[in-house]
Amino acid sequence: MADAETLGALLSWARSKLANAGIPEAALDARLLVEHVTQTTRLDAISRPERPVGAEERDLAQRFIDQRIAGKPVHRILGFREFYGLKFNLSDQTLEPRPDTETLVQLVLDEVRRVGGEGRPWRILDLGTGTGAIALALLSVLPEARAIGADISADALATAHANADMHGYGYRFEARLSDWFGNIDGRYDIIVSNPPYIREDDWRDLAIEVREHDPRRALVAGQDGLDAYRRLAAESSPFLSPGGIVAVEIGYNQKESVVGLFTEHGFRLKAHGQDLAGHDRVLVFAQETPREQG
Ligand SMILES: C[S@@+](CC[C@H](N)C(=O)[O-])C[C@H]1O[C@@H](n2cnc3c(N)ncnc32)[C@H](O)[C@@H]1O
Repeated sequence: MADAETLGALLSWARSKLANAGIPEAALDARLLVEHVTQTTRLDAISRPERPVGAEERDLAQRFIDQRIAGKPVHRILGFREFYGLKFNLSDQTLEPRPDTETLVQLVLDEVRRVGGEGRPWRILDLGTGTGAIALALLSVLPEARAIGADISADALATAHANADMHGYGYRFEARLSDWFGNIDGRYDIIVSNPPYIREDDWRDLAIEVREHDPRRALVAGQDGLDAYRRLAAESSPFLSPGGIVAVEIGYNQKESVVGLFTEHGFRLKAHGQDLAGHDRVLVFAQETPREQG
């Protein structure tokens, strides 16, 4: 039981509990959990380690540390995760937005900046929006843009909608229930997606933290992990504005297959981006011959 009476003592108690339990990022997780419980910052821990902690804070810290030791990911315990400098609340049916996905946002913004278009009224469609992370990150940088965040999960959409309101982008963001393009109309300058891309057979090899806490539907995409890309490659064209782009995140070994699928449907690879391990993880496609606006 935590009996620490100061912030500094609570932090070192939390750190050693997690480290002794073999939690890999013990120091970081301890800090995030204790900061949340005590509503303090990193600076407080340095400048006011003697800050007293109350019984309620100690109890909550104990509960959070127990959950972490039992395998619950730290951001699931907190109920939120930062992505592209914004806070995103999570729910049961949303995936935690991952740092890798920031590369997707960055690559799309590179394309926008290449044409000097930060101030343009871009129409963005984010398919499989989850928490709304990608669409809202883009809206945070593109002040005139509007986005539809589509998902098959009503729970995820409620979370995305609330996240949009929390950041003040509610008037530029629509959360729409749709099975990929099933309930989508209109045309978009930017279609973006981080779809499920794990093979059925690989699901059971994922870390237990992922299997038990991330929604399966957000991660698994058929026998070969390519089901969602098949839909996106085959169905994007009629929803693209002339000169529009489709940007997708992919698994570390899927570049060749996904480029093949999009090429089959009249797209060319325009840009690609890598993760820290040097794998291509983001692909940006343009149409070979842009369709005339109808
Ligand atoms: C890998 S998660 C990505 C979530 C979020 N865009 C992100 O990057 O953090 C994939 C998302 O696709 C959604 N999804 C799965 N199947 C779908 C479908 N048939 N139509 C629309 N969305 C779907 C899931 O509910 C999930 O939110």
